[in-house]
Amino acid sequence: MIKDELKKLLGNDFNGKIDHPTIEKFGDFAIRGDVEITEDKELIDSVDKVAGFTNIFINKEKLINEAEKIGSEQWQKELEKVGNEKTMVIDYSAPNIAKSFGIGHLRSTNIGQAIYNIYKFLGWKCIGDNHLGDWGTQFGKLIVSIKKWGDKPVEEMSIENLEALYVKFHEEAEKDKSLDDEAREWFSKLENKDNEATEIWQKCIDISMKEFDRIYQLLGVKIDYALGESFYLDKMEAVVKLMESKGIIKNSEGARIVEFEKMPPAMVIKSNGTTTYFLRDMATVKYRIETWKPDLIIYEIGADQELHCRQIFETAKMLGWTPQFYNVAHGMIRWAEGKFSTRKGQTIHLSEVIDKAMEEARKIAPENDETKIKAVAIGAIKFNDLKQDPKKDIIFDWEKVMSMEGNSGPYLQYTYARCQSVLNKKSLKTKVQNQKWEEEEMSLLREFYKFEEKIVEAAERFSPAVLAEYLLNLARKYNEFYAKFRIIGEKEEEQRLFLTERTGIILKIGLDILGIETMDKM
Ligand code: ARG
Repeated sequence: MIKDELKKLLGNDFNGKIDHPTIEKFGDFAIRGDVEITEDKELIDSVDKVAGFTNIFINKEKLINEAEKIGSEQWQKELEKVGNEKTMVIDYSAPNIAKSFGIGHLRSTNIGQAIYNIYKFLGWKCIGDNHLGDWGTQFGKLIVSIKKWGDKPVEEMSIENLEALYVKFHEEAEKDKSLDDEAREWFSKLENKDNEATEIWQKCIDISMKEFDRIYQLLGVKIDYALGESFYLDKMEAVVKLMESKGIIKNSEGARIVEFEKMPPAMVIKSNGTTTYFLRDMATVKYRIETWKPDLIIYEIGADQELHCRQIFETAKMLGWTPQFYNVAHGMIRWAEGKFSTRKGQTIHLSEVIDKAMEEARKIAPENDETKIKAVAIGAIKFNDLKQDPKKDIIFDWEKVMSMEGNSGPYLQYTYARCQSVLNKKSLKTKVQNQKWEEEEMSLLREFYKFEEKIVEAAERFSPAVLAEYLLNLARKYNEFYAKFRIIGEKEEEQRLFLTERTGIILKIGLDILGIETMDKM
């Protein structure tokens, strides 16, 4: 990486920040202050000291050489040294049984998968785990409403039927408080392996998994494991014992809790003896550590569960567990009306979103090719999740999601196809010459070597948006260049084909990492 080579030249004592100036005439890199650097001619073209900064211009030949390497096996191998076979586990997607796959879980799925891909690209051993919500008091509620209001056998119900019954429970429970007690009782029965309860529960799982698998297939997502909450039923007791032996579990009004210095306590076991989401999560951490020995455990869960995550991480520390923990804590997706919640029954169903995206994609990808239309639709939905800092809330705006000019998936796919259509007319034969390059050409060339820096930065910041933004910027520069110059038949043909080819390769690899398909023609 050019940045690393610069660091070498700056010497071991240097610990300042090396940035890319936003204004190009201030060089490829800028360092605050008057810094001494060995001017290695192969790397550095010139050094400029202006307004309290040391600005460094990279040698053009070097920029070309670096760009040439991108995508090669050796380039890939170098990048894999970053992770150096360290192990990470990522907890993502995690929809809830008997509820439809909401747009929040979509966000977790898209961002989680992209983070997984980024780490994998950097040579980490990655384990994806889908912590399905298949246990908990909500199943008590569901069983009550299935028994009371279900109008057909469970196995004939759809996920929408189940969800509607769940909503009905909440409506009814507002009028009749005894329903909550009944639900608690049924959950308790379920925890005690009651036959009837278990049978209904299993049917709900089968119905839901069929639907979730269909969605994953549509999204082209494959999660390594799906060890839902119920997987940990026989693993919870050991955690409680461990908590006891460390003296971190307390009795509180019949319940058992863990207390923290700066956070509200976490409930481990409820006063009626049933287990909690928190306890299942602690058993999950223990299992993951024992099974995979991870260096890093990432949670891709919404910001509404940030406290829950901090309680997990803090308890893990109290138990002496050592991996690094991180919660992405993604923001909400909003429409004009605000947040969705299943409880109020206003969930926006993912299938509706996909149908609408397909309809929009049909307008953009005019050839009647369903595979392409699907790739555009899914790419647009995914990119909308990935292009912004995960922490921020995003507003779902169809016009922006599908826009061909704006910051969208289709825009990047279209730019990629544009590169391929140029290269189809004529491909690059010889090594590109270092002759005169126009400003827009240089500006594009100066983007290429940053690709690998951005992949690394995206991993460090747990933010696929870093990579997404980079790709948008690259595409914008390419399109500016494309609008200004003719390529084929000009005396600069070679260098322009080179710029086109490199842009295409980066877009392809980058979109691949983000889980977005590319196509040669659009
Ligand atoms: N199923 C949960 C929900 O939909 C998310 C689970 C996240 N992962 C975890 N280990 N708690 O809210």
